[in-house]
Amino acid sequence: MLGPDEFRRVLGCFASGVTVITTWDPEGRPTGLTASAFSSVSLNPPLVLVCVAHTCQSYPALRASERFAVNILGADQEAISQRFAAPPGTNGSNKFDGIRYAPGTLGLPMLEGALAQLECSTVHAYPGGDHTIFVGQVEAARCQPGSGAEPLLYYRGQYGRPHSPGEVR
Ligand SMILES: Cc1cc2nc3c(=O)[nH]c(=O)nc-3n(C[C@H](O)[C@H](O)[C@H](O)COP(=O)(O)O)c2cc1C
Repeated sequence: MLGPDEFRRVLGCFASGVTVITTWDPEGRPTGLTASAFSSVSLNPPLVLVCVAHTCQSYPALRASERFAVNILGADQEAISQRFAAPPGTNGSNKFDGIRYAPGTLGLPMLEGALAQLECSTVHAYPGGDHTIFVGQVEAARCQPGSGAEPLLYYRGQYGRPHSPGEVR
């Protein structure tokens, strides 16, 4: 039987980008989590998915709001990924404290400086073991202009950035 540590170790061999999924909670506060379990699903209609653990404090808000934004992080946003991968403070502080964000087309909290942003209406929430698979219809999306922007990567539990063969970073 495959244990959770071994499973995590094997899955870590799949290199991914890093997103922060954001929404509003029922009290009108922004909430969100770092997620790499993000994927495109369909082109027509435009659908994406994200898998969210039931233990995440932002999970009930994602269910209730029926909307979420996907902020695809750039190579210079590792600190943002770390912030949103940790539970919020116990003293009433919010993960968004000191973070620059602005309402998007659907009014969702969008992180400034993200490589790309998608705003979604939740069209399905499928059970997936200890996670829920949220499928979102993409209502608005944009990329940072220019081709020079680099993504933040995650591989074997470490952050990285792309590099061309022979280039030393
Ligand atoms: C690179 C990275 C990717 C992650 N991907 C996911 C994911 O896809 N789904 C998930 O539920 N948690 C994921 N996590 C863990 C959550 O970010 C973490 O549990 C976080 O504390 C959840 O925030 P919340 O409890 O405030 O909602 C990831 C963490 C990191 C560092």
